Amino acid sequence: MVDVFVSYSSQDRERVRDLVGEIEAIGYSVWWDREIGAGATFDREIEKAIDEASCIVVVWSKNSVESEWVRTEAHEGLTKGNLVPVAIETVRPPLAFRMLQTIDGAAPDATASLVSAIAKLLPVPSAGDGLPCVGRAREFVRIGEAVDRARRGEGALMLFSGEGGVGKTRMTLEAERIARVADVLVLRGHCSDAESPPPYQPLLEQIERLGRLVGPEAMRQRMGENATELSKLMPELNQRYADIPPYPTLPPEQERRYLLHGVAEFVARGASVQPLMLVFEDLHRADESTCILLRYLAERLKAEPVLLVGTYRDTELEPGGPFGRVLQELTRERLVEDLRLKRLQRPEIVELLVRQFGSEPPAALVELIFSET
Ligand SMILES: Nc1ncnc2c1ncn2[C@@H]1O[C@H](COP(=O)(O)OP(=O)(O)O)[C@@H](O)[C@H]1O
Ligand SMILES: [Mg+2]
Repeated sequence: MVDVFVSYSSQDRERVRDLVGEIEAIGYSVWWDREIGAGATFDREIEKAIDEASCIVVVWSKNSVESEWVRTEAHEGLTKGNLVPVAIETVRPPLAFRMLQTIDGAAPDATASLVSAIAKLLPVPSAGDGLPCVGRAREFVRIGEAVDRARRGEGALMLFSGEGGVGKTRMTLEAERIARVADVLVLRGHCSDAESPPPYQPLLEQIERLGRLVGPEAMRQRMGENATELSKLMPELNQRYADIPPYPTLPPEQERRYLLHGVAEFVARGASVQPLMLVFEDLHRADESTCILLRYLAERLKAEPVLLVGTYRDTELEPGGPFGRVLQELTRERLVEDLRLKRLQRPEIVELLVRQFGSEPPAALVELIFSET
């Protein structure tokens, strides 16, 4: 089975590769490999794939409008009513396809438009461990709004709280999926329960991840003039980049401000290239440095395309501990939206079982799961 069949001219293969990557990133399976065989078997394989696919994406270009193959495949989509056309160059699609709205592949929100067109034909696969996500409608709406606002340059801090196992991490994964569809770059970080974790641990993970995603040169550009501050947090940056100016000697009270300012500038610069979502997992374990950073970013990034997302166990929050204190301040200053997750209710557990197994579960099973969870 395949979710999405991509029809394109083989001359456009390199450009189509990116597009396929974006569709796969959301979790859809994509058929687009035209080099898997030859002759009759090839035809039959294409036929099978196109029959099975829930959606056919046709990539119009100067090459593909001339291709009989592509036209035939696109026709199949038109007949079945599951065609999504994208134009990667300025070109007039063949006559039969002109009444369909074609996505402009060069537009900044092209990926988001493409994914939402596909999602109309086929629900976006859910994040997590394969089980469908049930309930949480209120949270989904809040996430959608926050992602939208962040894309428009209105940053925020959103927290998911609740007891262990209630579904906090899952909500961050669902938020990540929604953010990705909207072309927001997601960087995750955790507060570990190690004896003495390095200061700013979640941030270090986020920076590492960004470096791996964008590559060394783009990373150096994004660090810009704040490379010095970042190298204080991650001394290995000095080995990777020879041109980072040395760290100045500062009195301790100035040093923290200097660091926080540098980090915030760096995050804002990155977000001006592509909106960002930074995830801070398990903040109930966060040390002083991470809490101060989070507090600083929430204030400083209010007018930047950055969504901060965090989770914490409210059952393990010490009121006098670092995160307990910062959370109080954030709440007082209205810098946080705290979504408290409750345990799933019986109807939601029924829905989960129905969606997973396709039939109504026995009442006794529901009861058992409900009492165990
Ligand atoms: N709304 C939901 N629908 C379906 N499964 C869920 C939902 N919320 C959580 N789960 C599943 O429950 C398990 C525990 O959730 P998790 O997010 O890890 O909890 P927490 O982070 O609060 O400790 C995971 O396997 C997760 O996929
Ligand atoms: Mg968790």
